[in-house]
Order: sequence, then structure tokens, then C-alpha cells
Amino acid sequence: MRALSANLFALLILCALASIFYVWSALESRLEQHKRRFSGADGGSVHQSLSEDLSTKTFRALLAVPAAHIPHLGARFKVHNLTSQAAPAESRNYHANGEKMSIGWEDPVDDGIFWSKWLEDLFSVGFTEEYARDWRQKARASRVMRLEPGCGRISNQLATLADGTKACVRYGINADQVQGETLTYYLASLLGITNLPPLILSRLSRDSEQWAAVRTRVGGLQWSDGAVVSLTEWISNLTGVVTPAPLRQQSSGLHPALEGLRNKSTQELLQLMQWTDLIIFDYLTANFDRLVSNLFSLQWDSRVMERDTNNLLQTPRGDLVFIDNEAGLVHGFRVLSMWEKYHNSVLSSVCVFRRRTTQRLAELHRRRDCRQRLLELYRDSEPLSQELGFLSDEHAGVLQDRIDRLYKHILHCKGKYSQL
Ligand SMILES: Nc1ncnc2c1ncn2[C@@H]1O[C@H](COP(=O)(O)OP(=O)(O)OP(=O)(O)O)[C@@H](O)[C@H]1O
Ligand SMILES: [Mg+2]
Repeated sequence: MRALSANLFALLILCALASIFYVWSALESRLEQHKRRFSGADGGSVHQSLSEDLSTKTFRALLAVPAAHIPHLGARFKVHNLTSQAAPAESRNYHANGEKMSIGWEDPVDDGIFWSKWLEDLFSVGFTEEYARDWRQKARASRVMRLEPGCGRISNQLATLADGTKACVRYGINADQVQGETLTYYLASLLGITNLPPLILSRLSRDSEQWAAVRTRVGGLQWSDGAVVSLTEWISNLTGVVTPAPLRQQSSGLHPALEGLRNKSTQELLQLMQWTDLIIFDYLTANFDRLVSNLFSLQWDSRVMERDTNNLLQTPRGDLVFIDNEAGLVHGFRVLSMWEKYHNSVLSSVCVFRRRTTQRLAELHRRRDCRQRLLELYRDSEPLSQELGFLSDEHAGVLQDRIDRLYKHILHCKGKYSQL
């Protein structure tokens, strides 16, 4: 009996000790969790310092390593966001929370001069080819029910289509402008740039079903019968965009070694990535009516860069929408001698590119068939292409020449930054 109670007593002591140990471990892990939450509350300072620390250290390491090894380094030094450790890349989409999000250390630049694949994967492609095709088909078959101001100057009108959706109609001061708008749209498509709203051409004619409901209004606007106008999809909730600091004059430009590039939020990087496409696109088309006209205006307006960029808008998610491209290609090429030094200056400020855009450029450079491919795409996609016409041989030559020069610039950047 005595032995039994002694055993019972020992068992009781063991249980008590085990409970104390259990409570203590739980307390310790709670304390740890609390500490993490507390230090993460002020904008993720743990994560930020971790990412800053790693970004500076590993970037220096990166500079010392041959270019061929760079992608592996990116993967090895990846530090995930503490709050989304188990989350796959797509669930870290910045659109989901919209806030300035810390991304851990994944280098935004790959292979010397290209935006990294993880950034490309996060980019939600703007107007996909399929979406644009559907819109064009629908718009061609729609009646215009109303025309009113809302798309800029009086020669542009906001149209309400039969299904209630809207489009901007551009009458164009002359045919150059409608051609410029249309051909730049198809050039963007050739390059895989999806930031331009879909576009169709339409002929204003007395017996057109499409314009029947607004015939009086069309007469009032003094739009001539038979003219070919463009319609682009109208997008709601767009706002202005200020040119980012690295692309303003007097800054060092947007290149892979830019100080602070690796501290930018995912959202900022995604927008910069689209800016690099914009700069390539405006250089090719010699469109002076965006960033270049701002540079020009600096002569009398020193604060112009602090204001919204012409003909550029953004969605609430921060995706860029390139509107009003009528100065591109035709008009832009006519007045090239006046603007070329500004085009060169803007282009030389960029040495990071989207891989796909550069691949398509390289192909157009190698095959020297830009005129042919642009013409085919335009003819196959736009029933009124014959009526509006195409680039003159001279202008097609200017375009191919700009592709070649752009290609050289990309090679120059590669030479400069891949060997670092
Ligand atoms: N596709 C579109 N979707 C939504 N809004 C648009 C679109 N196109 C134009 N707009 C609106 O119309 C405004 C002027 O557009 P746009 O630049 O095409 O015309 P504009 O005659 O050149 O005007 P401005 O001289 O003010 O630049 C834009 O700032 C925007 O508010
Ligand atoms: Mg405009």
C-alpha cells in the first residue's frame, strides 16, 4: 500500500512538472509571435531592414559575379515576405492589397538589363489580343447613340454605343493624325505592348447605319461626310501620371545600377517597367506629344515635370494607358528634325527593358521586315485600311532605321551593364 502511494505521488510530481514545461513553452512562443507582430507593425520594419540589408550586400556581390550566374543568385537569395511566406508568386500580386508592399529580396533586374521574370509574372497584361479583337468586333457592329464632349478637344467626342459602353471618337485635324493613331496602335500590337485601348476605324457617311442616330450632331460638328475617324475604347476611372524621378531631366536615368531601384515597391517597379515600354514605343514612333513635349516645355516651365504627363493615364491599379497617339509615326516623322534631340535624350536615359519587347525588336531588326509585317497586320485587322492608307516608303524606312538604332542602344546597355 505504502509502495503504491509512493508511486502515485511520484506520478503526480511528474505530471505537475510536464504541465509547467508545457505552459512555459507556449508562453515563450506567444512572446516570440508578439515580438514579430510588434516589429512588423510600423510598415514592416523587420522585413524592410532585412531587404535593405540583403539588397545592398547581394547587389554588391552581384556586381562581382559573371552575368551568366545572375539569375541563380536571384533565386538563392530570395527572402519571402514574412506575412506571405507560403504564398505562391501570383498570390503576392500587388493588386490584391494595393499598398506599398515589401517584396523581400528578389532582384528586379535579370541578365544585366532585363526586368526580372517575377516582375513580368506579376504584371497583369493590359488589353490582351483576344480582348481587343472582341472589342473591335463589337464596336464595328454597334450603333453610335450619342456624341458629347469628354475626350479632350472638340474634334474628339465621347460616343455612347448601343450597349451603353463608351468610346472616344477622333476626327483628326487631317488624315495624318488618324493614320498615326491607327498605325501606332498596330505597331504596339506587333511589339506586344498592351497598354493601348483597342481601336477601330469607321467611315462617317450619310447612309451609315452606325451613325444614323447622331446624324444631326455630326452635322453640327462639321465633320465631313465620308471622313474616316477612329474609335478607341473609353476606360473609366483613369487618372493622370507624373513622370517618375529617374526619368526626369537632371536625374541619372533608369538603369540597372540605379541607386534605390532595389528599394522600390512592387507597384513602383511594375509601373517603371511599363514606362520603359512607353519610352521605346515613343522613340520608335517619334511621338513628341508625351514625355518629349514636357522636356521641351522645361525651357519656360521649370516645374512641368511635376505635373501629369501628356496623353498618359493610369488605372486605379497603376497600369499605364497610352492614349492619344496621333502624333506618332506620320506626323512625328514629318517634324523629326525639330524633336530628334529630345527623343535621343529620353531614350538614352533608359537602360532596363522588358525581355519580350526587346526580343520582338531584335527580330524586326534582324529581318528588316517591319513595313511588311505592320502592313499585313493592319490590312488583316482593319477593313478600312485601304481607305485610310499606309506609311509612305520614306516613312517606312524611317521606322526601320529607328528600330535599328534602338537595337544598337539596347546592345550598348547590355555591354555596359552585363559585365559589371
Ligand atoms: N480612351 C480613353 N478612356 C478614358 N478617357 C479618355 C480616353 N481618351 C481620352 N480620354 C479623356 O480625354 C482627355 C483628353 O484626351 P486626348 O489627349 O485624347 O485629347 P486631346 O484633344 O489631345 O486633349 P488634350 O489637348 O487635353 O490632351 C484625357 O485626359 C482623358 O481624360
Ligand atoms: Mg492629347
